[in-house]
Amino acid sequence: MSTYYEDVQQIKAQYPNWRSATLPALRLAQEKHGYLSEEALRECADALGTTPAFCEAVASFYDMLQLAPTGRHMIEVCTNVSCALVGAQQVLEGFEQELGIRAGETTADGEWTLRPVECLGGCGWATIVAVDHRYRTHVKPEDVPAIVQELRSGE
Ligand code: FES
Repeated sequence: MSTYYEDVQQIKAQYPNWRSATLPALRLAQEKHGYLSEEALRECADALGTTPAFCEAVASFYDMLQLAPTGRHMIEVCTNVSCALVGAQQVLEGFEQELGIRAGETTADGEWTLRPVECLGGCGWATIVAVDHRYRTHVKPEDVPAIVQELRSGE
């Protein structure tokens, strides 16, 4: 089995400029560490041949890269224009109520992180909610209790 460093070298070899490997390297580091901790950023920087500050600066721009610990599961509610027009804010508030946390927080048991996110690319099926990166479409505020119940029961 290859190491993280070796995997990043393989990715770098696919591009004329090492910077093109930054996002895949960050994604791999996140998969390995759970989130982009200082250690993960340092490891990523070493493999790319750059600084942790560069890696952190890139990571801070992307919603899908986490610079803080998250729950075992992630609920992401798109609150961008198309979703906002059909009640995304109410959907987000519904999840806040059901989970007992505010947007951006993780439940005390470490199970769920709730985040508002920018456009998930499913504007025609608004509101889009991504649960562990799997999309649910046309989500309405009244759907939220059943979704949370379903997720809690592991269905
Ligand atoms: S605005 Fe929500 S998916 Fe595009």
